[in-house]
Amino acid sequence: MPGKFIYHRHDAVIVGAGGAGLMAALQLSTRVDTAVISKLYPTRSHTGTAQGGIGAALGNVEEDSWEWHMYDTVKGSDWLGDQDAIELLAREAIEAVYELEHMGLPFNRTKEGKIDQRPFGGHTRNFGEAPVRRACFAADRTGHMILQTLYQQCIRNKVNFFDEYHVLDLIVSNGVCNGVVAYEIATGDLHVFHAKAVLFATGGCGRMWQITSNAHSLTGDGMAIAMRHGVPLQDMEFFQFHPTGIYKMGILITEAARGEGGVLINGKGERFMEKYAKTMKDLASRDVVSRAIYTEVREGRGIDGKNYVYLDVRPETVNKYFDLDGKMTPEGKPRRISPHDVEDKLPDIADFCRVYLGIDPVRDPIPIQPTAHYAMGGIPTDVDGRVILDNKNTPLPGFYSAGEVACVSVHGANRLGTNSLVDLVVFGRRAGKHMARHVGEADWIPLPPDPTAFVAEQLAGLWNGGTEPAAKIRDAMQDEMMADVGVYRTAQGMTEAIHKIRDLQETYKHVRVQDHGKQFNTDLLETIELGNLLQLAEITTVSALARQESRGAHSREDFPARDDANWLKHSLAYKDGKGIELEYKPVVITRFPPKERKY
Ligand code: FUM
Repeated sequence: MPGKFIYHRHDAVIVGAGGAGLMAALQLSTRVDTAVISKLYPTRSHTGTAQGGIGAALGNVEEDSWEWHMYDTVKGSDWLGDQDAIELLAREAIEAVYELEHMGLPFNRTKEGKIDQRPFGGHTRNFGEAPVRRACFAADRTGHMILQTLYQQCIRNKVNFFDEYHVLDLIVSNGVCNGVVAYEIATGDLHVFHAKAVLFATGGCGRMWQITSNAHSLTGDGMAIAMRHGVPLQDMEFFQFHPTGIYKMGILITEAARGEGGVLINGKGERFMEKYAKTMKDLASRDVVSRAIYTEVREGRGIDGKNYVYLDVRPETVNKYFDLDGKMTPEGKPRRISPHDVEDKLPDIADFCRVYLGIDPVRDPIPIQPTAHYAMGGIPTDVDGRVILDNKNTPLPGFYSAGEVACVSVHGANRLGTNSLVDLVVFGRRAGKHMARHVGEADWIPLPPDPTAFVAEQLAGLWNGGTEPAAKIRDAMQDEMMADVGVYRTAQGMTEAIHKIRDLQETYKHVRVQDHGKQFNTDLLETIELGNLLQLAEITTVSALARQESRGAHSREDFPARDDANWLKHSLAYKDGKGIELEYKPVVITRFPPKERKY
């Protein structure tokens, strides 16, 4: 007999209310009946934490072009990004940023009233010659402003929001995706959403590491659910560590701090990035800077010999280096920053330092360490957000994905700063448009007789009187991932990690859910999230162990060189009852053949 559930029917259902989900909802909602389901209140989505900017070659403060943006993204990706998708990203970024401006997004302005732009890691002019100002920004709250702006527009368009509904399963009937099952957090009721098209925009999975910039909600739910339905996960071995997380806490200190002139300083008081990246220095790509910090620390040059360094945005330090670097304003005057600039352009990070560290960044250097930040891999899609099932690019009809949960793949082995926001708006928009067309053409596919069967069994299993505390399992997973599947990796460490994670998966079978209530049962939902993370930790590590080279964020001490002859290819990891299977597919190269990556 089918379980009890509340039935809904909408043409299009979007899961996740961050930038990608809302951008898709905007496209859809003028044409078809659209619902957005989110386990959070929408404006609490993780897009809101993106600080420093959104990259687009507007050329407002100096010459720029989408071709340079494309090249930087290809180079940043260590040539693993698909160049057809990257070209779309760089070209359509410009239109997307103007569209956001016209929706009312409060960008910082130049004195002529144009959108202001700042330098960012890996953004260069003329194919790598020198830094360029490409990041359009709203102080250091760019993601927050994007989220608020898109949410307001969705409300205007009468999108149906289901806030604080946790999606637990995808419905696939006869090879077509036609809905989702969600758990209403306030009541514990199950809801079935019947749809012609479903988009997953559920964000990343950074909570599998101990030091992370990711919100507690980033538990890879979308990836884990898709995988259970036979969708492979692409390039999961590539996970970005952002160089500047607050020491011990992981909270993000934006790269814009270095864009505005901040420098990294080791325990000997040296600006060490000059050694690692002659041209771009502190603004090299994130993988390069994170490795440099680790190397300084390992070689005993952390602050007081500990595992952190300083990010210094004090005007006296910044101005010293601006002068030494001969950096000029577009008007030809030496660039200087003042305490006012720190307050004006980096107000949130100034507050974070005061609140979390009890220091003032205008007077004190900021202790930082690399922090797990962004999944380059995820659910494979084509450039219209259609989820694909194999290395022949076969789509799963009705199923779409965009944003960090997806892998289109524009970030390849390492994402450039600001390109996550570009990815959200460009590919969220493209997915929404394609879904609207699909909804117009597709028939309603009947639901299976009991669409909640899997979820009912999952919940019953968790309430079955286990004894193992979830917190202990979570801590052990996060410690292990940090130790052996972090910035630097070896076969020995990752083999050990796979054993430990599989042991933890066994322990998880006896996990204890203490709260048996129905209302706001966060104990239950966090335990489900932990189950998802354990699956993804295993996939990440197995994919990483198989890739015997170093590329972008995947840095093998036992295979230190990039190996294009054998590894210029995407991985696809499938998990079924029997274990994990890997297959590979070629990278799309159009304009920029691989070459050595130097910053
Ligand atoms: O550093 C930052 O502001 C982060 C931006 C990003 O991840 O793109």
